[in-house]
Amino acid sequence: MLPIQALTPVPWPDYELIDSGGFEKLERFGKHIVARPEPQAIWDKALAQEEWQQMAGAWFRRHNHHAFSEHERGKWHARPDQPEKWWMTYQRKNLQLKLKISLSSFKHVGIFPEQAVNWDYITEKINQMPVKSPKVLNLFAYTGIASLVARHAGAEVTHVDSVKQVISWARESMEASQLDGIRWIVDDAPKFVARQVRRQHRYQGLILDPPAYGRGPQGEKWVLEEHLNPLLKNCAQLLDPDHHFCIINLYSMGFSPLIVENLVNTIFGQVAHMEIGELYIPDRAGRRLPLGIFCRFASC
Ligand SMILES: C[S@@+](CC[C@H](N)C(=O)[O-])C[C@H]1O[C@@H](n2cnc3c(N)ncnc32)[C@H](O)[C@@H]1O
Repeated sequence: MLPIQALTPVPWPDYELIDSGGFEKLERFGKHIVARPEPQAIWDKALAQEEWQQMAGAWFRRHNHHAFSEHERGKWHARPDQPEKWWMTYQRKNLQLKLKISLSSFKHVGIFPEQAVNWDYITEKINQMPVKSPKVLNLFAYTGIASLVARHAGAEVTHVDSVKQVISWARESMEASQLDGIRWIVDDAPKFVARQVRRQHRYQGLILDPPAYGRGPQGEKWVLEEHLNPLLKNCAQLLDPDHHFCIINLYSMGFSPLIVENLVNTIFGQVAHMEIGELYIPDRAGRRLPLGIFCRFASC
């Protein structure tokens, strides 16, 4: 039986989870520290509230006080010297990316640092693949760090997201990172995939990071529990049967890695080298903050 792993990124200088607790987390992105909601941090903070206030240049405060809301409605409150946008670096072996950070709506800042675990995987699998310039499809691709990583490793990358502004943001980080040639697509991920299936396209790499709820550019509704199964069925037809890797990442309260394992086994059959588990980042006090679940597999 497959073990459930708990994985965390190799630390890098420009990111730190300083503290967590009281339904919030305190993090440093490059030179700036921000505090924002974290519904899963139901324990107490290790640092005093005054220390958080001294450190944080910006604080996302919720409008509603339902600690478990996944739709964080609220607003950033920033100190006068806190920029709304800035740059940070992601550094790992021979990869150096310059990433734009921005205090955006729904408490996000443009990077999910726990995903660095999957960025390592993407690099490793592309390097191991006997195919020259493998084709990689990144769905629900957001600000595109996975796309940048795949491109740096030599893949032909197609990046799909429903929000145009997010794609411009990803493009800025690509250019700042001295990369080029990513194919940007503003589309509904399920519609795009269905079209690719009809055209009998094949990809060696699939990366999916769907939200719990979302919208396509024409208002198409995305509900994870309803739509992931049919989407993955179509994805199975896009994947090169001989040379491939696939990463499915979910951040939805209460979703177990076993759910994605069952989904993948049912749709893809017996896949090779499957890994399932949780991603986490430790805070300074050593508490492991869970940040989503993953299922990934590869032909080698
Ligand atoms: C932020 S990532 C998800 C990261 C993480 N799993 C989470 O839920 O917080 C989700 C991305 O999917 C995009 N998105 C939402 N619905 C979509 C759809 N139907 N088609 C394509 N992209 C979509 C959003 O614009 C966003 O950039």
